[in-house]
Amino acid sequence: MKKTLRNVAILSVFFAATSLSYAQSNVENAVFIPTKTLNNGVKMPCLGFGTLELTDSVGLNSVARAIRLGYRLFDTAAVYGNEEAVGKGIKQSGIDRKKLFISTKLWVSDMGYESTKKAFERSLKKLGVDYVDMYLIHRPHGDVPGSWKAMEELYKEGRIRAIGVSNFDSVQLAGLIAKAEIKPAINQIEINPYFQQPEMQKMIEEFGVQVEGWSPFAQGRNGLFTNKVLVQIGKKYNKTAAQVTLRWLIQRGIVVIPRTSNPVHMKENLNVFDFELSKADMQKISALDKKTSQFPEWK
Ligand SMILES: NC(=O)c1ccc[n+]([C@@H]2O[C@H](COP(=O)([O-])OP(=O)(O)OC[C@H]3O[C@@H](n4cnc5c(N)ncnc54)[C@H](OP(=O)(O)O)[C@@H]3O)[C@@H](O)[C@H]2O)c1
Repeated sequence: MKKTLRNVAILSVFFAATSLSYAQSNVENAVFIPTKTLNNGVKMPCLGFGTLELTDSVGLNSVARAIRLGYRLFDTAAVYGNEEAVGKGIKQSGIDRKKLFISTKLWVSDMGYESTKKAFERSLKKLGVDYVDMYLIHRPHGDVPGSWKAMEELYKEGRIRAIGVSNFDSVQLAGLIAKAEIKPAINQIEINPYFQQPEMQKMIEEFGVQVEGWSPFAQGRNGLFTNKVLVQIGKKYNKTAAQVTLRWLIQRGIVVIPRTSNPVHMKENLNVFDFELSKADMQKISALDKKTSQFPEWK
């Protein structure tokens, strides 16, 4: 008994000292998710839940279940057509909204100062919240300066806790930062074992901007879940190719947002904080880079 108490005490000190967030309420399995501190001091979980294609009842049920399992960061977008479903899932879970990190995105057809303000109000209404934790420009098209100005104002009013961008290349990011009053906190870009973007990551981080990786599994394209190297590495740690992929991204310091509507996969994707890939294994995964986007049709 004494030994157990001592172990609990040691664990508590460890977790307090490593800025881990403990997802407490409404959880089936308690999960520790480490946080990243953004350039404005706001903390965000390093692993969250993607919601592309999770619409209507699938979106609602997936989000509610993910919250019960311990996910706290949710990534949606106006163009996904599921902000309402995500909002309903949050409500159904019964969780205190302040415990969540809700991120949504401004679509290209709403670029510009006035349109951004209107689009933001629409997103809030659909989500059923009075602020979001993060608001991103989805793609670098149209009137970026006008949209950014509107976002800076909403940020100053406390209606967005962190503002950022998605799919910006180095020139576009540098251009925005040169004129911005408030620096973007995040650039969300495609990163997976087949499109690793190490130089882009370095450049974004040199600007003091956090990298968030979208499509961590490349949606399973090119046989990612059965890739021999990933499966072989996984066997060593008793993990799947999916878990190895997420762990590899997290060890690179990237925020990850895998998407699934399968409860087994939801649990699996959360279970990546009890092992560490060796340097040699990290290098083996680096060799999988095809150096090309897995989604050429989205260009
Ligand atoms: N900013 C942007 O332009 C942009 C672009 C694309 C995506 N995103 C964001 O990034 C998120 C993730 O990317 P994504 O949705 O494109 O794809 P993804 O997360 O790379 O892959 C999703 C696919 O992987 C499967 N899957 C998930 N976990 C699995 C596991 N443990 N084992 C086997 N299969 C598994 C899912 O199927 P099951 O449901 O059957 O598990 C689904 O088919 C999106 O949801 C979205 O929030 C942003």
